[in-house]
Amino acid sequence: MAVTQEELYSGLDLELSWSERALPEHVRTKHVHRLHPYHGKFIPQLVEVLLERYVAPGGHVLDPFAGSGTTLVQALESGYDATGAELAAFNCLLMRVKTARYDLDALGAEIHDVTGRLDELRTSARPNAYMRRWYAPEAARQLLAFREHAASDVLRVVLSRAARSARRAAHFDLEAPAEPMTGEYWCHKHRRTCRPVESATGFLRRYALDTLARIGEFASVRSERSARVLQGDARELGYPGAFDAVITSPPYPGLIDYHEQHRYAYELLGLEERRDLELGRGATKAALEEYSAGIAQALANAASALAPGAPVLVVVNDRRDLYPGILERAGLRLEERLRRHVNRRTGRRAGEYYEDVLVARQ
Ligand SMILES: C[S@@+](CC[C@H](N)C(=O)[O-])C[C@H]1O[C@@H](n2cnc3c(N)ncnc32)[C@H](O)[C@@H]1O
Repeated sequence: MAVTQEELYSGLDLELSWSERALPEHVRTKHVHRLHPYHGKFIPQLVEVLLERYVAPGGHVLDPFAGSGTTLVQALESGYDATGAELAAFNCLLMRVKTARYDLDALGAEIHDVTGRLDELRTSARPNAYMRRWYAPEAARQLLAFREHAASDVLRVVLSRAARSARRAAHFDLEAPAEPMTGEYWCHKHRRTCRPVESATGFLRRYALDTLARIGEFASVRSERSARVLQGDARELGYPGAFDAVITSPPYPGLIDYHEQHRYAYELLGLEERRDLELGRGATKAALEEYSAGIAQALANAASALAPGAPVLVVVNDRRDLYPGILERAGLRLEERLRRHVNRRTGRRAGEYYEDVLVARQ
């Protein structure tokens, strides 16, 4: 029998559950949260409420699986210091760009200079096999030419975002396209016939200007607090200092390949890949055991850097019920389990979806 709305709501933490109308996409991806797509992030409003509830103002929060930096950015906006650990080099680059402080006049000059010269940029670099497969020749040339002039990390993120959009991927399949589109195709997203992209220049210009605007918006709301990004394996990183909370959403087994989703960036920027150390690869019995041991080790490592009594807040959709065991292995006591309703945006992933915030302490 279907549950009533009252029954449905009684198990939910309503302060952590938003309707699409209350929290539309452009608010969930405000200012720098949208500098570059990242599949598998949580929303800043969730971090905002958790900080308010569990961390005294001005504290220092640690996210050992920091991803695209949602925790760090929101911490800066809410008046907290933040440290993020992350394995994947592209995610670290993105976080650094989101959380750095800028001389906005100098950044504006740099962006306007390069966008003004986009049509003149030249290169002698040749596209590699990946570029030849995924880009029209003109788009590949433009991206490689931009790369030669992308001296700053901000421009490297702009380049990556443009490289994502300029792939010969179907518009409805940008997250994990399997095959390049070489001709016209029926586009489920736009409900019309679309053609593969031929040029990257429009994306480079649009994203460069959008990035400048978003960094400017964030500068006007961020506090004086600072953020630090540590690249490495969360199981083993040595954390400097005592933190006042852990807020994190760990990878979940077999769901997302956190390197592969940004393959174009690794190819173009020559970033080092550490997929061998990525937790959550595969969902066989052995992989699940390795996952549980790895997450437990990473949480224990983070918890060892906490001030006494500080909370560990883990956001997860634990459909395999692995987390009670993981927390125990990490030496953490589960204090509360808050359930939230998650809105799904696209038709392809429609359906009810819930996740939990596990509140644990040592
Ligand atoms: C669910 S995502 C975190 C998303 C983040 N909350 C956000 O909003 O962007 C999990 C992250 O853990 C990272 N990761 C996987 N294995 C790791 C490891 N051994 N050490 C550190 N980070 C790791 C992945 O690269 C991924 O970015």
